[in-house]
Amino acid sequence: ALLRTQLSGDQVIVVSNREPYIHELLHGAVVVRRPASGLVTAVEPVMRACSGTWIAHGSGSADRDVVDRNDRVELPPGQHEYLLRRLWLTPEEEQGYYFGFANEGMWPLCHVAHVRPVFRESDWQYYRAVNQRFADAVVAEAREDDPVVLVQDYHFALVPAMVREKLPRATIITFWHIPWPNPESFGICPWRREILQGMLGSTILGFHTRFHCKNFIETVDRYLEARIEHEHSTIQFQGVSTLVESYPISIEWPTAAETALWRPVPECRRRVLDRLHLPADQRLAVGIDRFDYTKGILERLHAVERMLEKYPEWLGRFTLVQVAAPSRSALEEYRAFRDRITVVTDRINQRFGTGGTLPILLLAEHHEHDAVNELYRAADACLVTSLHDGMNLVCKEFVAARDDERGVLILSRFAGAARELPEALIVNPYHVEDTADALHRALTMPEAEQRERMAALRTTVREFNVYRWAGRMLADAGRWRLRERIAERV
Ligand code: F6P
Repeated sequence: ALLRTQLSGDQVIVVSNREPYIHELLHGAVVVRRPASGLVTAVEPVMRACSGTWIAHGSGSADRDVVDRNDRVELPPGQHEYLLRRLWLTPEEEQGYYFGFANEGMWPLCHVAHVRPVFRESDWQYYRAVNQRFADAVVAEAREDDPVVLVQDYHFALVPAMVREKLPRATIITFWHIPWPNPESFGICPWRREILQGMLGSTILGFHTRFHCKNFIETVDRYLEARIEHEHSTIQFQGVSTLVESYPISIEWPTAAETALWRPVPECRRRVLDRLHLPADQRLAVGIDRFDYTKGILERLHAVERMLEKYPEWLGRFTLVQVAAPSRSALEEYRAFRDRITVVTDRINQRFGTGGTLPILLLAEHHEHDAVNELYRAADACLVTSLHDGMNLVCKEFVAARDDERGVLILSRFAGAARELPEALIVNPYHVEDTADALHRALTMPEAEQRERMAALRTTVREFNVYRWAGRMLADAGRWRLRERIAERV
């Protein structure tokens, strides 16, 4: 309701690569799937609250057979709260813009993830062309000349300036869901100036942390002739003024009606252990990730191995359930990573598996939200060991799932969330010993301490939920629009 008031009738248009619902054709029937995406987890409830139009890349296999190419889909299924307008990309566009420039270039560039970014001229051309297609779609959707446009993530760095060119009065809020590196790291990108210029078409440019804002401002300072007002965190470039601010993203806190449907924690434990053929008293940790080299899955496996070496009392009594949703599998780097994880898992299981119970269960498939929630509720600990992560929403989902105030969160200091959630056991995932010790500590933590930590974590996540994330950005944008209107009158 607050979001609607803040928008007071303004038209909202979201642009993201990933769509909130994917329609797949399975054995002749259409099934709807929610993708594994922190962006979707956060933006979808906001769109449900403020309606509008969501423009995204159509990625399912069903649509072209079932829905007309240019059709709009009303979502969520059966509820008609906002419109999804899908843009269909050619295989060449998808390869160059999404797999190539976005995920072989920008993704490793911004995560500084020890995976060398790859920059190809042809990928860049597709990236520019696809950004132009999405910008044109925004302009075509705009009913007035001043919509509120929410541009999401590193797939669309050029969209803000492209939209600004056609709709100079639009309020463009760009949110960068991944880290922003230091100027030296960013400087290796051959198109660094074009990317910065594109982003500076935004009215507001949001990052998860102040640290990423600072890196961005320093990068602009290094590579563009722009006026920077450090005091107000604004950048003036070619007649446009951009506010660079931190807005830590979050999740939708579950409602009482939702939690009433959850099975009690002991039942979740029983069901999970039965399903995985584990003994009734087995201790469990969970990891929920996309199969991505930034998530620190390998380091996590090594930490489990080290814990079993150092604290042999857990042999046969502990299992890590690692869900790894297939991701960007068309890329060699991702396929090689998946193979490596499988090999290391098998090796550790051979070394430490006893009497049919394995220390690591690798579930390399997509899991729907209810199944993940049951795992969160069944677990003694949740491991989030990203090597670098903009925010990470898995840790917040785990906290939201634990209304029994038990369970221990082990969280990488290199995830943006570590700044907001200091009551977790904070680890350096590159330091295997550190994570192994944290895991042992989690498994032996007295209930009173678990409760104390979890209660504090829950208070933070409940209060700083996704509506506050969107609300703060929209409130800042509202103030901005008012200021512009007043300035126009002078
Ligand atoms: O949050 C970062 C992000 O890259 C989102 O933009 C994206 O939807 C998500 O991770 C999952 O990646 P992908 O959409 O490439 O599967």
